[in-house]
Amino acid sequence: MRTEPTPVPNTENGTDGLPAGQPRHVSPWTGEPGTVGTVAVVGMGKIGLPLAAQYAERGWHVIGVDVLPDVVAKLNEGRVHFDEEPGLAEKVAAAHAAGRFEATAVHRDAVSRADVVVMIVPLMLSDEQEPDYRIMDRATAALAVGLRAGTLVLYETTLPVGDTRRRFGPALEHGSGLRAGDPDLGFLLGFSPERVYSGRIFRDLATYPKLVGGIDAESGRRAEAFYRSALPESAEVWLLSNAEAAEFAKLAETTYRDVNIALANEFARYAERMNVDILEVIRGANSQPFSHIHQPGIGVGGHCIPVYPHFLLSRAKEMEIVETSRRTNQDQVGHAVKIVQTALGGLEGVPVLVLGLTYRENVKELAYSRALPLIERLAFHGARVSAYDPLLTAEEIERCCAAPWPWGEPAPFRAIVTQTADPLWRQLDLGAFRELEVLYDGRNSLRELALPDRVSYFGVGVPSRVRRATVAPTGRS
Ligand SMILES: NC(=O)c1ccc[n+]([C@@H]2O[C@H](COP(=O)([O-])OP(=O)(O)OC[C@H]3O[C@@H](n4cnc5c(N)ncnc54)[C@H](O)[C@@H]3O)[C@@H](O)[C@H]2O)c1
Repeated sequence: MRTEPTPVPNTENGTDGLPAGQPRHVSPWTGEPGTVGTVAVVGMGKIGLPLAAQYAERGWHVIGVDVLPDVVAKLNEGRVHFDEEPGLAEKVAAAHAAGRFEATAVHRDAVSRADVVVMIVPLMLSDEQEPDYRIMDRATAALAVGLRAGTLVLYETTLPVGDTRRRFGPALEHGSGLRAGDPDLGFLLGFSPERVYSGRIFRDLATYPKLVGGIDAESGRRAEAFYRSALPESAEVWLLSNAEAAEFAKLAETTYRDVNIALANEFARYAERMNVDILEVIRGANSQPFSHIHQPGIGVGGHCIPVYPHFLLSRAKEMEIVETSRRTNQDQVGHAVKIVQTALGGLEGVPVLVLGLTYRENVKELAYSRALPLIERLAFHGARVSAYDPLLTAEEIERCCAAPWPWGEPAPFRAIVTQTADPLWRQLDLGAFRELEVLYDGRNSLRELALPDRVSYFGVGVPSRVRRATVAPTGRS
């Protein structure tokens, strides 16, 4: 049975580094408004570390847990191990200096001191497109041994519907000997999807409603109280009926985007056949408030949108639209290669440049990037593939099976294919590529680029002839 919460000083000198009127630090924390406690965040990656910094900023004492000793050591010096998230380094340094942030590789130590545990390690996809639970199961088993009665455990990693209650609940019970959903003698358990976008996490945490659901009413209420006290005050917290609704909401919002993009890609292929500009079509269609057609492109990358539909499909094989959409988006690379191949009359021995290897511009992440199958497919047809990405070193490009191209160096490329919409590509002087015949604009971001007459432009759903007709009157093509 838990005792009544009592205020505790947060730091050695008895002050908590927070202005007067800020929440009281109590132990144990039971969700009373105006109070904060101790939270363990398991997984100090691109999402977990910003979450930890956010919670500390609202006065929570945060213990970050990660299996990488270098990461733990850096964090314990108040330094970050990646620097791409605006504001992160400053927030971590401030939380560390105020005594509200520490890190450890020992789950049991962190969890046994925590009122709330937030789990944010990745759930991967196997080669068979099924959830690969190895990392999640290991992290769950490690945290279970430290669980105390009354602790709230929140899964934020995107999960197939039902996993919080049916997979991780029993695993936590097994490892801790405690019952799930019992606030006095057991632990509380809920799910809250992480909906942020890398590169603007703090803004998203402040503006997107935080969806949350418990495995029972008390777990849901405690989770709601946690997020109200730990997220920016401007953030809405929406308590859904149960953990399954919260799990499903994340899969629904991401799968919606995959399906919508697949529809745009299918429309784009038809537009190519009809010599119509798909961008004009979409702009026109979306001028009516019920139409929200997304943009077509050379494919969908990153570890969210191409992955989560498979989490749905793993439990709901009947979702044919979801499955077909995934296939349509995957096929975009083959479609692009076919257009280039046809335009050049074959690819055997042809030097081709691929621009942009990360899954999107400005994010150094190769997970599920469509550049990798693009390079593979071009090479399969005999092309000699070179590549450039401003975020990758020559060695990293070589590991993607392409020859690194030093930016601006003259080369006999006969085709250039862009895989990201990096604005840098607009600075290319295509006149310098004397052999160039084809520009395939995989993100439709180069429609206005000046092209020598001998170069044919192909966008996704923007046939060569249409683009020229569109651009010619402005005098740019
Ligand atoms: N990255 C995104 O843009 C994004 C957006 C929304 C939601 N998400 C969700 O967040 C999850 C995590 O994503 P991420 O980008 O932070 O991943 P990441 O790979 O950047 O970080 C994961 C961290 O977990 C650590 N880890 C692995 N096993 C562990 C264990 N047993 N105990 C403790 N730490 C362990 C790793 O060392 C790593 O530091 C995703 O799987 C997804 O569900 C991610």
